Amino acid sequence: MSHKKMLQCSMGALLLLLPWFGGLVHGEISKNFSQCFDFFYKKTPPTGIPAEGYQPICQRYQNRYRFATLYHRQHRSPLYSAYKLSPPDGKRPNQAWMYEPQLAFSRASSEMQNFHTLVDQNVKESQAVDEDYKDSGFTRGHLNPSLHHETEQDRRATFTLTNIVPQHKSSNNGPWNVLEQEVLTKFKAFCNGTMHVITGVMPYESEPQWINNRVSVPEYMWSAYCCPSFRSDLPKSEQRFFPTYAAVGRNDPNSGEEFVPVNVTAKPSVRGYEVRRMSLEELEDILRKRLDMTITLFNGQCQYEMSLWWVCTAVFTMCSTSFIL
Ligand SMILES: *[C@@H]1O[C@H](CO)[C@@H](O)[C@H](O)[C@H]1NC(C)=O
Ligand SMILES: *[C@@H]1O[C@H](CO)[C@@H](O)[C@H](O)[C@H]1NC(C)=O
Ligand SMILES: *[C@@H]1O[C@H](CO)[C@@H](O)[C@H](O)[C@H]1NC(C)=O
Repeated sequence: MSHKKMLQCSMGALLLLLPWFGGLVHGEISKNFSQCFDFFYKKTPPTGIPAEGYQPICQRYQNRYRFATLYHRQHRSPLYSAYKLSPPDGKRPNQAWMYEPQLAFSRASSEMQNFHTLVDQNVKESQAVDEDYKDSGFTRGHLNPSLHHETEQDRRATFTLTNIVPQHKSSNNGPWNVLEQEVLTKFKAFCNGTMHVITGVMPYESEPQWINNRVSVPEYMWSAYCCPSFRSDLPKSEQRFFPTYAAVGRNDPNSGEEFVPVNVTAKPSVRGYEVRRMSLEELEDILRKRLDMTITLFNGQCQYEMSLWWVCTAVFTMCSTSFIL
């Protein structure tokens, strides 16, 4: 073997071994959310969802965990994404779509990555790819939206296709977008601590719909938030929005109206894509009926937490009043 050949050969071997070393560094795919409990209220993921068929993903981008997704392998679609909301300091980034190597190879990197021009067959088997959405008639709908995040890195991390579902354009750019903005506005105006958000889908019940015969199309989108510590001077009109609130949105004008009625006076461009606001209990009730799962989204239902400052003031006021009397 010539010197040059040998060099080429060892370089090749090194390149082949690289993913393996990467796997060793990053560890294997987890059966639970142990690396990213922080994104859930009380560090507790929703209960009542069977483990079978679902893959927890701690979404990792540029060496940090950004949010959590429960992925349905057969649907090649997330059931939900969970995150902590923070107001954005900039625009929606121009970020290429990414995928999760860990879904294709259990020892692969757990960092999301840009698609290569030639998509590996194992990657394609394990998850949705860019080409599934091309000419599908659907937009790529974020469950965890980029504009609910302060840093640009967190916003970029939402562009992994495991956080994306086929969403009708009228919903994505219309009523669902309005809901996302409304949640952000409520956070900024009244939330005095962490707001945990979980956003997910309900697939069709009897006749599943797919794009490219591969990726499940949701019939409905849903979302709920929990902000246990909010302003004590909450106006009366805002009280039903705290500490929890939820919504279900249509993704199909032909769906029945048992969960979300169609607004016949709405503009034709958004009619059939309504989003109904509701309590957390109502949403969990709908999920129980539709998914046949008794899901608890927030541990202990997300109770109001009085701030220490408020408790001290109240106790002080009480004590000083009784002292004067
Ligand atoms: C979560 O999974 C890890 C291994 O991936 C395991 O060591 C740990 O015990 C699990 N934790 C829970 C709470 O199930
Ligand atoms: C919540 O935040 C507001 C505005 O930042 C502040 O005035 C208020 O004292 C805070 N605490 C409570 C318990 O409302
Ligand atoms: C229906 O749509 C109209 C026009 O956009 C709006 O004014 C009205 O509030 C909507 N009704 C309901 C129940 O959402």
